[in-house]
Amino acid sequence: MKRMRLAGVVVAAVLGSAAAAMAAGPAEPWRNPSLSPDRRADLLLARMSLDEQIALLHGHMPVLMKAVPPGVIRSAGWIPGQPKYGIPPQAESDASLGVANAGRGDQDDATPLPSGLALASTFSPGLAFDGGAMIGKEARQKGFNVLLAGGANLARDPRNGRNFEYLGEDPLLAGLLDAASIRGIQSNHIVSTAKHFVLNDQETGRQVLSAEIGQGALRESDLLAFEIAIKDGRPGSVMCSYNRLHATYACENPFLLTEVLKRDWGYPGYVMSDWGAVHSLASAKAGLDQESGQEIDRQVFFDAPLKAAAANGEIPAAQVRQMAHRVLRSLFANGVYDHPLSPGGLDTRTDALVSQRVAEQGIVLLKNQGGLLPLAARAGRIALIGGHADVGVLSGGGSSQVIPRGSFRLPPPKGAPGWGGGILYHPSAPLAAIKARAKGEVAYADGADPAAAAALARSADVAIVFATQWNSEGVDGPLQLEGGQDALIEAVARANPHTIVVLETGNPVLMPWLDEVQGVLEAWYPGARGGEALAEVLYGEVDAAGRLPISFPASEEQLPRPELPGLKTARPEGATTAQPQPPFDVQYSEGSDVGYRWYAAKGLKPLFPFGYGLSYTGFRYADPRATGGPGLRVSFTLTNTGSRAGTETPQLYLVAAPHRSQQRLLGFTRVTLKAGESRRVTLSADPRLLLDWDQAGHRWTRAAGLYHLFVGPNAADAALKSAVTLAAGTAAP
Ligand code: BGC
Repeated sequence: MKRMRLAGVVVAAVLGSAAAAMAAGPAEPWRNPSLSPDRRADLLLARMSLDEQIALLHGHMPVLMKAVPPGVIRSAGWIPGQPKYGIPPQAESDASLGVANAGRGDQDDATPLPSGLALASTFSPGLAFDGGAMIGKEARQKGFNVLLAGGANLARDPRNGRNFEYLGEDPLLAGLLDAASIRGIQSNHIVSTAKHFVLNDQETGRQVLSAEIGQGALRESDLLAFEIAIKDGRPGSVMCSYNRLHATYACENPFLLTEVLKRDWGYPGYVMSDWGAVHSLASAKAGLDQESGQEIDRQVFFDAPLKAAAANGEIPAAQVRQMAHRVLRSLFANGVYDHPLSPGGLDTRTDALVSQRVAEQGIVLLKNQGGLLPLAARAGRIALIGGHADVGVLSGGGSSQVIPRGSFRLPPPKGAPGWGGGILYHPSAPLAAIKARAKGEVAYADGADPAAAAALARSADVAIVFATQWNSEGVDGPLQLEGGQDALIEAVARANPHTIVVLETGNPVLMPWLDEVQGVLEAWYPGARGGEALAEVLYGEVDAAGRLPISFPASEEQLPRPELPGLKTARPEGATTAQPQPPFDVQYSEGSDVGYRWYAAKGLKPLFPFGYGLSYTGFRYADPRATGGPGLRVSFTLTNTGSRAGTETPQLYLVAAPHRSQQRLLGFTRVTLKAGESRRVTLSADPRLLLDWDQAGHRWTRAAGLYHLFVGPNAADAALKSAVTLAAGTAAP
């Protein structure tokens, strides 16, 4: 049977290429796959009318269409195909963390990855690629060829409700992981976006806020994350964001779209808008190529108005053609044109294992007093408390929501956006996974009654409290755990000295009870097999290998903006009765000192620093040797000092350059060592992180002189210091 199917594929492939070759003759030369994507787009555009070109430049939102055409999937986006040219429909799905299915109810299966912060905690581009490849494959199987994925907004504020979709606070880490994830998605002959370009760094007032930041600082932080993601990942599309930059909407901002993205970075793909982010035809003039979700815009600017503007010369027809060229070019370059979709064959059981690998490596052990963990060492009775650990693991809300079969849903909390389906738990219960491994009895209390939970904890050898913090697109969250969970943890910790807290949070949280508990694990939103992954780490079947991609503040006062801008005038998004929120500015006066850079610059001690995480073994760093020259490298000897194998993530930081002191992550790697093993490890600096933006010269420069560095296990632990002299250098923007 298998062989027949395989043979069928071969026959189809042969026929397919023969047909393509025949059709690629003089009549339809753009079908020839050996020509460059740009040439093919030119050849095709030469045949297309202005109307046909414009039809590529605006898209529907099927979930809001009055009548969904046959064959169109209810999802975020759809742009009709043009069969006479072989142009397939662009079937778009949200996919920050898996193929989202919020518009299609609970019976449309898909595999959720752990949150972006969990992925970033792995510090592993390889796992990012695997996760991307998995969701790209599911997307094809489900009938999508354009994924709204690749979120790379920097975590400037640990209260941002969408941090769980992104990759942390550091431009190098976020950029490299985003690039790998995009490459994974696109390895399936589909288009991925990188989004949201740029500075949609809080949800409160995202449609009205104006981000205020100097150009150099922007290029060295948020833009740098995108630059790395886009240059290394080559997404077919870039999605511009809702917010304004210096009072101009990101989707009608010529500086962002034309000067930086298309001119300086030479980006050849197309820019699509976020949904509802087009306000006028100024967008087309500024460099937007495609209007998305036209049902929610005031009017469909990129249809009749664009045509009228082309007719009266306001927007040259050549520019409209150039916009269509960018769309077609990506469809050719990414294989969307040459590899039509053939939906079917979804295998969520196998795909869930990819998600599990990410979760296992992304769980961060923050505290392990007295080596209480892993649990394998101690038999006995376990009290499991709270967090709906009996039904599943928490996920984040909004357009990225993935709903596998069997999910458990709670109503949305007060103040949640007017859209979105509530609080969703993915069906992977920690209770069952722990029971399967426990030597003694495991008893569960839901935690609603702290006294009852404390009584249960008192009767057990170990108490594990699951604490959750739901985050969602459309709303920012507090740093405090809500719903009396701090009090619950304190009550349990008083009852049992062997208390472990497992956090399922979309963001960092404050931990007023930290000194009273013996262990803390940050599991983030751990995805399709999160319960299983958690149990594996709790029982030490895998080492605790995750490292924080975001600093945990000790208090709100430590943040650049202790009070979240716009919070006082905020209204729940999608609320029908409220007036729109008045516009306001967000002053990013910390500039490029985002996250750990800010703590270093201000001499502040966070609760847990960027890069931090414990292993079940220990590591010693010794004998550094730094070399300058064109490739800055530091080698050192890393030794596993414990009695079991484990994984460490050594990090290379710049501390001060000749002309400027700014801490910067320059490089990182993951090293797995057996008990007692030593290895010589070399960390290379990404050359892009050694440059500063020179505004007057419109270029990047590196100053000559002495660069102070360190290698260590996190941003606040300078285990091995060194210094190298570098020559001056410059680079094009
Ligand atoms: C989000 C995007 C998403 C789009 C389509 C917007 O609200 O910001 O990330 O891709 O909706 O669902």
